[in-house]
Amino acid sequence: MSENIERHQYDVVVVGAGGAGLRAAIAAHEAGAKVAVVCKSLLGKAHTVMAEGGAAASLGNVYPEDNWEVHFRDTMRGGKMLNNWRMAQLHAQEAPERVLELEDWGALFDRTEDGKISQRDFGGHRYARLAHVGDRTGLEMIRTLQQRLVALGIDVFMECTVTELLKDGDKIAGCFGYWRETGSFIAFEAPAVVLATGGIGKSFKVTSNSWEYTGDGHAMALRAGAKLINMEFVQFHPTGMVAPPSVKGLLVTESVRGDGGILKNSEGKRFMFDYIPDFFKADTADTEEEADRWYEDKKNNRRPPELLPRDEVARAINSEVKAGRGTPNGGVYLDIASRRTPEFIKKRLPSMYHQFKELADVDITAEPMEIGPTCHYVMGGVEVEPDTEMSGVSGLYAAGESSGGMHGSNRLGGNSLSDLLVFGKRAGDAASEYVAGLGDSRPSLGEDALAAAVDSALAPLSGLGTATENPYTIQTELQQAMNDLVGIIRVREELESSLAEIEKLKERAKNLVASGGREYNPGWHLAIDLRNMLIVSECIAKAALEREESRGGHTREDHPGFAEKWGKLNIVLSLNSGGDGVDLATQPLPVMPDELATFFEEGH
Ligand code: FUM
Repeated sequence: MSENIERHQYDVVVVGAGGAGLRAAIAAHEAGAKVAVVCKSLLGKAHTVMAEGGAAASLGNVYPEDNWEVHFRDTMRGGKMLNNWRMAQLHAQEAPERVLELEDWGALFDRTEDGKISQRDFGGHRYARLAHVGDRTGLEMIRTLQQRLVALGIDVFMECTVTELLKDGDKIAGCFGYWRETGSFIAFEAPAVVLATGGIGKSFKVTSNSWEYTGDGHAMALRAGAKLINMEFVQFHPTGMVAPPSVKGLLVTESVRGDGGILKNSEGKRFMFDYIPDFFKADTADTEEEADRWYEDKKNNRRPPELLPRDEVARAINSEVKAGRGTPNGGVYLDIASRRTPEFIKKRLPSMYHQFKELADVDITAEPMEIGPTCHYVMGGVEVEPDTEMSGVSGLYAAGESSGGMHGSNRLGGNSLSDLLVFGKRAGDAASEYVAGLGDSRPSLGEDALAAAVDSALAPLSGLGTATENPYTIQTELQQAMNDLVGIIRVREELESSLAEIEKLKERAKNLVASGGREYNPGWHLAIDLRNMLIVSECIAKAALEREESRGGHTREDHPGFAEKWGKLNIVLSLNSGGDGVDLATQPLPVMPDELATFFEEGH
């Protein structure tokens, strides 16, 4: 091969440096493995930071009656019982220990009056259980993990994009990528790779995700032979900014509602009382008086409807806007100014105060915010073995948003930060154990696979002169199609149109061309990312078409409500034999053991 490739050897390579990646790297290092972290962006810039409100863990600091069993039940109910029960169990059991460990490593959580870690309310959680740092919890988590990573001397390759996983037979042998600044290539020989690449938000036009989230881990895993599950379930966070246009989609933390904020339509009506689903009726206050009493005396336990799970709230906002009761910028109002003092708001929600003041010239201590749903998170991801996070490919692991199963059809806010910690650690531990078990029979990198990865990465540059398609045009058209046809409310005809559109875009993408050379060339980088965006978008649209019911983050206007059949099935996607699309199958959900099933019986 003529191309000069920089080469490295590690035991475990972690792709992605959000919470899951950093926690996995620390675990693998502490278990004795030689570890590298490779990240597309600068270290510290990760979607984890957008989990602002806190990490859910049943520490019982505010409500001593909280425990892992209640957290497990809330998580399963929030996911409409489609969660992998074992992941939900491990998550609920281990989250407290992971949060306390983070504190030992230097995370500065807010405190209760008696000096314990403070815990705040979020949608779908029976008790206030989000350990938080104002409204900057994800940032503090990343800061703490990053500091530990650096202190442990773990190697970090930043602004380095991994484009392909490499295999030796049926085992992972490493991965291949390029330095974003120079465009030169790099290969890692490693028997274990942990994918912690986050989500797919950039497939949608309005999103809280930044440019990095193009479904890289999801797509690379598919191409390496792993399976994806739950891809039809996309979380639209109810509250993103709607104006000014330059920041449309930027997250407005759920903490605003957790700390007392309410939602109103353009007629001034607190509309969420009209949208309480039967599934949550027993837990949700259905009068304004009762909801207000809850904020003062939470023991009455019937929570305000603004704190229903995110899928319910996002759908309600969507319906109000569609019915013509939206704000001038197409959202609804989120009001905390009339409910809390300016001092309280500035203390508990400092980032939101500055975000609205600086970006929208709105003082949230005096005026309501205009907000609307924004694509925030994908529940679907790589199918993994719950205890180890290993995918169906030996040596390939996934943790955090790139893995599937834990959150079922809808994730509860705050369960992401704890998920990253619990399953990041598990993946890192298991990956290092796997490598140790290989002894001297480690897979090796094949030159043919490397040459193919080089050719694929260079294709958009070699198309100069003949190819005609601009990556930015294809990206814009894809994002528009996903927003319009595979958004919060879905219907057969539109899903079919989206798949036809994706097929056309895939065809056109064969003709992608990026002008300029290999040195920092964002057009080329996007052309490479588009391959991933197109295939994950196809997964989402195909699975959404197949699931003829409404559940969690998947609402079919033509199939309202749960269907019994679909409450027992996962949709599984794998790469087709031609390697240019995906095949879909269904498989039964793992059966929950009786001792856990009793948590869902009446009166429990
Ligand atoms: O609203 C938020 O602060 C986001 C949290 C999360 O996605 O877990």
